[in-house]
Amino acid sequence: MHDRLIDVELDGALRPRTLADYVGQKKLKEKLAVYLEAARNRSEALDHVLLYGPPGLGKTTLAHIIAYELGVGIRITSGPAIEKPGDLAAILTNALDEGDVLFIDEIHRLGRVAEEHLYPAMEDFKIDIILGQGPAARTLRLDLPRFTLIGATTRPGLITGPMRSRFGIIEHLEYYTEAELAQGVNRDAQLLGFGLAEEAALEIGRRARGTMRIAKRLLRRVRDYAEVAGEEIISLARAQAALNELGTDEMGLDARDRAILESLIKKFAGGPVGLETLATAVSEDKATLEEIYEPFLIQKGFIKRTPRGRVATERAYQHLGYSYTPQAQAELFSELEDTLNGS
Ligand code: ADE
Repeated sequence: MHDRLIDVELDGALRPRTLADYVGQKKLKEKLAVYLEAARNRSEALDHVLLYGPPGLGKTTLAHIIAYELGVGIRITSGPAIEKPGDLAAILTNALDEGDVLFIDEIHRLGRVAEEHLYPAMEDFKIDIILGQGPAARTLRLDLPRFTLIGATTRPGLITGPMRSRFGIIEHLEYYTEAELAQGVNRDAQLLGFGLAEEAALEIGRRARGTMRIAKRLLRRVRDYAEVAGEEIISLARAQAALNELGTDEMGLDARDRAILESLIKKFAGGPVGLETLATAVSEDKATLEEIYEPFLIQKGFIKRTPRGRVATERAYQHLGYSYTPQAQAELFSELEDTLNGS
């Protein structure tokens, strides 16, 4: 917990403030630069923005950057934090100035009633407040400042149609390349004032699962090892040793990732197996497995999502040092046949 608190504090200090400082996401940055300039030139609030993509790619950071680039304030909340429509009304009526950004993280977890109150706020910058109860209840319609809602979600599929249609800008964040992650950690090393060999930065990038937050966290732990060893400029060998110590392998898989693949291969003959069954087998919560572990394992080609369940690929077998059995291949083959036959 202590460790995490320090990480959070550092995040604030190290967070890039401008689009130019934000590493990677090139296409997204190009588009945003245009939208930001157009909004500034028209002296209007930016259209509402929905950012989606796996956790740790920098959606919150990007929301801060958007506010900074627009020269407006930002208020931060999250879907689960808004329990009652009154919570939303309080934020919208008290906390926002003209043009400000309201950032709602995990917006897919916003309750239905709160979501319905958000519609007129997004569309007409008005909110209905119900005063009193029963037959005496009255609706009071309040004007709101023109604000920009930035919603972030790891689960775009859970955003309702009416909600999605109220965002003018809907953008996806991509996993980072190793080089981009290396650039990100180099930036942090510079800001924190310590040396990092280029190869060491790339090694961290390689093992960070395409995720900036993980790269930055690994950097801090590697730095701890280097400091304790009295190494001034972190070398490749030091980075590798520290990362091995942390249980992060050459492909960026951690112990949990490997346990998931191991279970899929050994307990289920490589699959196909349903998500729920797999989650139970590895004592993991289904949503965590689906939202955090699986996207990376799929992206790296270790797992395939098929209509009949999850399947371990040849690459997964190889990575864990198992031979790719004919049995597993037969499973894959029948799966392919099913797909071709349209079942
Ligand atoms: N912190 C989070 N995301 C980042 C990015 N893309 N570049 C630099 N720092 C970041």
